[in-house]
Amino acid sequence: MVTRPHKVVILSVVVVMIVLGAGIYFFSAHNQDLQEPPLGEIAAGEVDPAVWGKYYPRHYDSYQENFQDKEHPSHFETRPYMKTMYAGGGFGVEFNEPRGHVYTLEDIRNIDPARRKAGAACNTCKSPEIPALMDQYGDKYYQMTFEEINDKLEHPIACLDCHDPKTMDLKLTRKPLLEALQRQGQDTGKFTRQELRSLVCAQCHVNYYFEPGTKKIVFPWDQGLDAGQMLKYFDDLQFVEWNHPLAGTGLLKARHPDYEMFQGSTHQTAGLACADCHMPYTRVGNVKISSHRWTSPLNNIEQSCTVCHREGVDWLQERVQTIQSQTKQLEDLAGQAVVEAINELAAAQETPGVDEKLLQEAREMHRKGQWYLDYVLVNNGGGFHNPTASLNCLGQAIDYAHRSVELARASRNT
Ligand code: HEC
Ligand code: HEC
Ligand code: HEC
Ligand code: HEC
Repeated sequence: MVTRPHKVVILSVVVVMIVLGAGIYFFSAHNQDLQEPPLGEIAAGEVDPAVWGKYYPRHYDSYQENFQDKEHPSHFETRPYMKTMYAGGGFGVEFNEPRGHVYTLEDIRNIDPARRKAGAACNTCKSPEIPALMDQYGDKYYQMTFEEINDKLEHPIACLDCHDPKTMDLKLTRKPLLEALQRQGQDTGKFTRQELRSLVCAQCHVNYYFEPGTKKIVFPWDQGLDAGQMLKYFDDLQFVEWNHPLAGTGLLKARHPDYEMFQGSTHQTAGLACADCHMPYTRVGNVKISSHRWTSPLNNIEQSCTVCHREGVDWLQERVQTIQSQTKQLEDLAGQAVVEAINELAAAQETPGVDEKLLQEAREMHRKGQWYLDYVLVNNGGGFHNPTASLNCLGQAIDYAHRSVELARASRNT
């Protein structure tokens, strides 16, 4: 006969088992796909995403959705001063906003040929076939023409760019990033999963320049990753990307420093990675996968933001809009100031007996001002990735541009 205390024990055990069972059921139902073991049948260098899609159909479907992101309006429509800033360089001819990853090859083939002057290197961030070609040709790759490499490419950005097909782990495949990290003394085999969820993007969404002579793609990170540290890096090298035809200034070109701008932001210091907002977990049928549609998180705030933020969708949307419109306002002010500097420099250049020393100082100020403005203009996200750093850069841009205007005027009046 079972005594009363025993009954209580048996009842408790039954209740505990039911709760545990239900817990395990719900946990695995929510994480089913994430725990699927790798199938390991994809060939080591498989560049075709459709082949990966046979094993990971949900991910492939999600990837295919990138075809929906077709729009890529010209930057010049909203920021006409960019045309004046970039005059004499390839970017002054045509410069569009980005669109879906699956359009990389189409877009680079359709761009104005003036933009492809750097040759083979332009293809580096456009296809999963590149790392093998770089291995094949070594540093000669950078000396080849745009067409010599482009003609060989078949696939836009795809699975092999970020994954090891054997284990499905995240993998860094781009040499310029690996080299920059090695110069910093980092062990590139030892990144955490969370670090890799940003670093896979840093393979391409970063600032870079072409090393004079070798034409190699180099990340100017050796003195640090913020705008001021990169400017110092270039100044120390006395690097000039092109000379402005009106102003006579030796200029720099910033290129989408998305990863760099994110450093030190509220979200980065709180431990977030690019994938947290741009590849949120999305439900497909009864499983969850990381979304492989790389787009504006505002298209899916519920998955991208409200997992952490209790504030509603409207509040979040408004915060993003406020940050972006305040950033745009200062961009426009800085744009006007830099254009004014260019005009003043152009007038000074034409003036007989101009004070060359003051003129040169005015050009120095133009170089710095344009750099700080460009750094924000070409950064994706309209200031959201790091609002304070963006506004700080724009404040410096306005100050340098005004100093350039003053010095250029003074150079004529001596
Ligand atoms: C731009 C980089 C990138 C590309 C390209 C890419 N992935 Fe991913 N993938 C990621 C990231 C980041 C994660 C999240 C990994 C993590 O959290 O550990 C991920 C996760 C996964 C996972 C693990 C399960 C999950 O949903 O989190 C699978 C499977 C996967 N990707 C398949 C693919 C396939 C198939 C393709 C090509 C059609 C592809 N990926 C292309 C970056 C990429
Ligand atoms: C191999 C290079 C490469 C990698 C890796 C890469 N990107 Fe991109 N990304 C690009 C290029 C190039 C474009 C612009 C494509 C175009 O306009 O044709 C782009 C465009 C985008 C866009 C704009 C899409 C749109 O519709 O406007 C987003 C968002 C984006 N990437 C996010 C990411 C995130 C997040 C990661 C990391 C998980 C990542 N990218 C990894 C090269 C890359
Ligand atoms: C806290 C969330 C968050 C994180 C983390 C984040 N982003 Fe963004 N990103 C955004 C928002 C919000 C926008 C603005 C979208 C818009 O204007 O529609 C954006 C815009 C972009 C765009 C342009 C997309 C478009 O449609 O205009 C790219 C490219 C991009 N981010 C890349 C990155 C990269 C690379 C990282 C990591 C270094 C990153 N983001 C980290 C939230 C985030
Ligand atoms: C993984 C968690 C996480 C996700 C996802 C996330 N955030 Fe945040 N966010 C934070 C944390 C943590 C802070 C800082 C502390 C706080 O304000 O709660 C923060 C702060 C903010 C702030 C105020 C600080 C600032 O820099 O202006 C805004 C605005 C914001 N987030 C918007 C967004 C938007 C929009 C998204 C989606 C695109 C998003 N967040 C996604 C965790 C997250």
